[in-house]
Amino acid sequence: MAQILEVKDLSLHYLTRFGQKIHAVTDVSFTMKQGEILGVAGESGCGKSTLVNGLMGLFIPPLYPTSGDVLVNGESLMNRSPKDIRENVLSQKVSMIPQGAFNALNPTRKIKDIAADVIAAHSGNKNINKQQVYARLRERFDLFGMETEHILNSYPIQLTAGERQRSVIGISTLLNPKVVIADEPTSALDVTTQKIVIKMIFDLLEKNIFSTMIFITHELPLLRHVAHNIGIMYAGEFVEYGTTIQVVHDPRHPYTRALMGAMLSADSEQKNRKPTTIEGAPPSLAKKIEGCRFAERCPSARPECRQKTQNLRTVGERLVRCDYAE
Ligand SMILES: Nc1ncnc2c1ncn2[C@@H]1O[C@H](COP(=O)(O)OP(=O)(O)OP(=O)(O)O)[C@@H](O)[C@H]1O
Ligand SMILES: [Mg+2]
Repeated sequence: MAQILEVKDLSLHYLTRFGQKIHAVTDVSFTMKQGEILGVAGESGCGKSTLVNGLMGLFIPPLYPTSGDVLVNGESLMNRSPKDIRENVLSQKVSMIPQGAFNALNPTRKIKDIAADVIAAHSGNKNINKQQVYARLRERFDLFGMETEHILNSYPIQLTAGERQRSVIGISTLLNPKVVIADEPTSALDVTTQKIVIKMIFDLLEKNIFSTMIFITHELPLLRHVAHNIGIMYAGEFVEYGTTIQVVHDPRHPYTRALMGAMLSADSEQKNRKPTTIEGAPPSLAKKIEGCRFAERCPSARPECRQKTQNLRTVGERLVRCDYAE
């Protein structure tokens, strides 16, 4: 089957007010087929949200593409204006479910009017009939057993966090986008609400409203039940990429192992195991980094790791950015 998303050697940087470049994403490549779910995990600041913007072709200063390409259904998203991307790509081809619903919702508008604004901005048709948007919203919200009339006629502040996040998900998937990117969609929510939101995302997949998804999270264990493939990010790079079984059950990169060790405590099978912490912090992305980016924190680092740039190579059928991984 044809690739729905192709990411080729994508590098992205921020240009600060002082003229400094922050290399937030470096040489990320992967492809996705329709119906595939890719999980992306990594510590805070490793470039996950920056990658999301790149995957939508949305370059708003201070974010700039450095090199590489992103293609959706064979069509490149690079070198296009934010206006073109908003009108012809967002919501229709690629849609994002953001981390915090509050920031995504205009506090002065009712949910139904926010939806009408979003659809008008992203369908390329300013004269879209509001009644059509409302009808579609009602249908969608009813499908998910939501209190449709109450939610549509409320301002964001009048809703619970779960209702707000579910509204955002409903609105951002209203045009049945080809690829949905969920950027830590539950991290701002309590556990009960997290479950409701995850269930909605799975219902959307089950009902085939969209079928291809990138799910970004801090919580690697969550991905084992969700993703077909997983990419582990560290300091702007993919350090391991493979099937979920490979990456979660048999990690080969020392960073993936450390991340699993730090997180498995939430898993019932591992209840009695104490989580380990990963000492230190990721390197600054403002300078050129010599050698392996994880070397400073790696329990199995050798002296040569600090000099030698590490490239992805195949180890046990997955890609690992470490010359010494077995
Ligand atoms: N507007 C900006 N200007 C300069 N640097 C930025 C900007 N936004 C993010 N960065 C830097 O880019 C790097 C990647 O940040 P990003 O937000 O993509 O990480 P993340 O993996 O999404 O983190 P989190 O898990 O906390 O959401 C970080 O070093 C961050 O400080
Ligand atoms: Mg982020």
